[in-house]
Amino acid sequence: MWAATGMLALFLGAIVVTAIAGSAHPPSHVETVNPDTLRTIGEFATPGVTVNADGGVTVAMRAEFYVFRPEVIRVPAGRPVTFRITSPDVLHGFQIVGTNINLTVAPGYISEATTTFATPGEYLVVCNEYCGLAHHLMQGKVIVEGAP
Ligand code: CUA
Repeated sequence: MWAATGMLALFLGAIVVTAIAGSAHPPSHVETVNPDTLRTIGEFATPGVTVNADGGVTVAMRAEFYVFRPEVIRVPAGRPVTFRITSPDVLHGFQIVGTNINLTVAPGYISEATTTFATPGEYLVVCNEYCGLAHHLMQGKVIVEGAP
């Protein structure tokens, strides 16, 4: 009994220590956006790929009834790609099949994740949260292009 209690305390302590020391937070971080105006104001009004000064790219995206905007994304291989995605309507999912990118997209919040595609190729993007009658048709594509 005491051993079990001690282990619980140890595990809880490990979670608290790593959360504080490692600044642990949910993968969909807590940046907010107004879902009513994001189609007209700001980075999500003109979604697409932006090349950063350090050579990485940032992809601003909207997930909305029943499409990803942009539907086709072209990014370079071997460089960090940061996806920033939000929704003007309901909950959607953003999963790039075969990678570690799998985000819940909630109205009012910006979900963000960064990955580096090692090899050129085409990746399927799917919505994996039920969002309505045409949920199963909601998909896109990431085309990873080789270094020039
Ligand atoms: Cu969007 Cu399911």
